[in-house]
Amino acid sequence: MPTLETLDRLAQATNLDPGWLGFGLSSSGTPQITITPGFDSDALIADLLAILSGPTGVLDDLYKYLDPVSAHEWRNLLRQPDFGSVIAAFPMTEVLELLAAAIDTHDPCDIVGLGCGTAEREVTLIRKLRARQRRDLRLILLDISVSLLGSAVQSSNEFSRTHAVPVLALLGDFHSLPEYCHLLTGDGPRRRVLTMFGYTFSNLDNEVQFLRRSMSWVNHDDLLILDVPAAATVSSDATEIARKDRTLSRKRGGDWHSAAFQFLTGPLRRNLQHVDECRIHTELDQSSCVIPGSYAIVHKAIVKFKTGEEKRFVIGYSKRYVLDKLAKHLEHEGWRLVQGLHYGPNQDALVAVFQRHDPRPKRGRRPKKNEG
Ligand SMILES: C[S@@+](CC[C@H](N)C(=O)[O-])C[C@H]1O[C@@H](n2cnc3c(N)ncnc32)[C@H](O)[C@@H]1O
Repeated sequence: MPTLETLDRLAQATNLDPGWLGFGLSSSGTPQITITPGFDSDALIADLLAILSGPTGVLDDLYKYLDPVSAHEWRNLLRQPDFGSVIAAFPMTEVLELLAAAIDTHDPCDIVGLGCGTAEREVTLIRKLRARQRRDLRLILLDISVSLLGSAVQSSNEFSRTHAVPVLALLGDFHSLPEYCHLLTGDGPRRRVLTMFGYTFSNLDNEVQFLRRSMSWVNHDDLLILDVPAAATVSSDATEIARKDRTLSRKRGGDWHSAAFQFLTGPLRRNLQHVDECRIHTELDQSSCVIPGSYAIVHKAIVKFKTGEEKRFVIGYSKRYVLDKLAKHLEHEGWRLVQGLHYGPNQDALVAVFQRHDPRPKRGRRPKKNEG
């Protein structure tokens, strides 16, 4: 039996599927999208329309990605120079070093992209891990957008085929993960590297509840990579934040604001009739954040109709974090910081790798003997 490395080389040289060459199995074929149990995009669209029919409401991030045109506008935003320069500066080599140190060569391991979008970074990561002799790898991609997940599957297809790395693409809502986390298990124990790239974590309404509820099934020692915006200052003074934060002070370059607003207003523009004007207000919100040191930027839309009617919606919610305060808080939640790095031209992005551990039990009164 050849080693997997030899098998890989033979398969590449002969342009054959390594799974078929080695084991008589077509290892991957074309990765398929699996619809997660209970996922109902039509019901989500109905929820969106119900919110828009009211005078006021909050549009969760997921509604922006359900619609393929919104997903398209998200991709345009990624190409906007200010946004693109941050993505280009992502410290992939440093993150890879951390993972390579934490995952043994023989550990079966899954990269699990939560809200993966087009999954460029997940595919790069697994490609580089594969090059570092990690053999038993799988790529699991989860997203709510058919359009983005479809592109993710297409871009991972070639790698999956040539390197015999299975790809499992799941169309679903990550808030419901505990209902279908059994889909993520393998034949035996596997290490997991869960990723949330592209600021997805910072858009959550309550990220602590997300970790407690949606990630409750994660095993001890599994890793979590969070890619979030960094706070512009450690100060909690609103004037200083407003002055230093590049979104609040409108210091972002080029057409960032128009591209971002184009994306954020998509669900309003496409689903509301007879709109006369849509104005956007960007505000600082310090009181809804659960992680100390973090603050949120809230985008609100005031929609004026030709009839004179007016509606108000929250269309964007994004938090910024102070690394050591985020780390301290997540430590109590069972996630220990391995390392965090600031990156981007203005150091306004933050990638932090956490490892699951059992949190120390909270101090409280011990039950007395015979009590209870
Ligand atoms: C900010 S984008 C980041 C995309 C990608 N990770 C990147 O770095 O470019 C957020 C992603 O999360 C997905 N998403 C948002 N809410 C979701 C939910 N509730 N369940 C699953 N995916 C969701 C969106 O479709 C989108 O692809």
